[in-house]
Amino acid sequence: MVTTSQIINAYRKYADKYDFAVKLYPLLGIKIGKYRKMTIDALKLSKGDTVVELGCGTGLNFSLVLEKIGPEGKLIGVDLVDKMLDQARKRVKENGWNNVELIQSDFTDYGFPKEVDGIFAGGALQYSPEYDKIIKRGYDALKPGKKFVLLDFKMSQGPARIFAPILIFFTSPFEAKKEYLERHGWKSIEKYFDDTSYLEGWGGFLYLSVVKRKQHSTTKEKTKTITYRLPAKMIDELETQAMQQNTSQNVLVKQIIQKYLQWDRFSEGIAMIPIPKNILQMMGHDMTATDIDLIVESVKPIIKDSVMFMKGKYDLKRCIETLEDYMQATGMNSDHRIEGSLHHFIVQHGLGKNWSLFTEQLLKEIFHEFLPEKNIKCQTTDSTVIITIALGSDFDEHDYQEKKKSIVEN
Ligand SMILES: C[S@@+](CC[C@H](N)C(=O)[O-])C[C@H]1O[C@@H](n2cnc3c(N)ncnc32)[C@H](O)[C@@H]1O
Repeated sequence: MVTTSQIINAYRKYADKYDFAVKLYPLLGIKIGKYRKMTIDALKLSKGDTVVELGCGTGLNFSLVLEKIGPEGKLIGVDLVDKMLDQARKRVKENGWNNVELIQSDFTDYGFPKEVDGIFAGGALQYSPEYDKIIKRGYDALKPGKKFVLLDFKMSQGPARIFAPILIFFTSPFEAKKEYLERHGWKSIEKYFDDTSYLEGWGGFLYLSVVKRKQHSTTKEKTKTITYRLPAKMIDELETQAMQQNTSQNVLVKQIIQKYLQWDRFSEGIAMIPIPKNILQMMGHDMTATDIDLIVESVKPIIKDSVMFMKGKYDLKRCIETLEDYMQATGMNSDHRIEGSLHHFIVQHGLGKNWSLFTEQLLKEIFHEFLPEKNIKCQTTDSTVIITIALGSDFDEHDYQEKKKSIVEN
């Protein structure tokens, strides 16, 4: 794996030649000027906005951003390499811009300011193997309704793939090797955000991913204050636990009660017993296709009974909600994202390939039961299953995510 010091050395070496090297991109057919403009336009910035560029380099995107945000806005450029920032500083000074802040930092460690109006990165983010975490932190820093735009290289899946060695050859002085092309920043970006759009260019070796942080719901959940008498020891333990989780006692108590109301109070009634994860992983190793069929067939009536018991009616929405409650209660990651009429249901179980096949089959059969005519698309890895289906307005909001968010926000 390329190390941080290799990246620093490479960019130090080429910092004063970087702008010239970029001018050669069009010779390779990369209309870099067009892509830069598309990136900045996609941020939909307004005068006075605060914007962060991750891996700003010598500041080749600055003028495009400053045109949009005006002198009353603020641009923060973050880069790892001193010599690249020296070039950026020169550009800022020459142009007399006094609303550009340059920060020398690895973006993996960078603490975003609160409530920014736009974040973008061009040909930089996939240098960090921790790009997923950075994107999640970017999501948390953005104001609702604001955008994260990522312009980056990827491995082409089309016929142009045969030219990959040439691209690797040209970008290797900057340490952007095969592993860089195989990192999928747009997948992380789509995982956390809503309203995603994605397009490819240059034979599938370039992508532009634009995403928007969801607007907060304007209706705030009503709350009440209540007093309970609890043993002092119990309160001490809650205090310690809240401190360890870096959260408030109020949020912790709410999470505990939410889990009880959502799941635990029913789990006895439906005779649910917890099984350690490593036992499930072990069981998964030897599971055959016939075993998977058998388990799916046995689980389906249990799910139906549970949904009826917990939600009072068996329909697709209640069924999905119950499965999500189950995943939240058992600590599995799940998400439901809406992209136009398409709904993506994402389950990260970490239990291995056979449980992925089981999850895929179970979800397909549940959707098929309610919507036999709909086309279902699945993407399955050893730890994750993504089911995509056009549900339109049948599911206009994601209650589970909203519930989770309101616990954190209150
Ligand atoms: C290909 S240049 C892109 C520069 C600029 N975004 C542009 O469009 O011209 C990649 C930049 O990312 C920076 N970079 C690479 N890894 C980084 C990291 N972990 N943290 C911050 N910057 C990083 C490099 O120093 C370099 O300036």
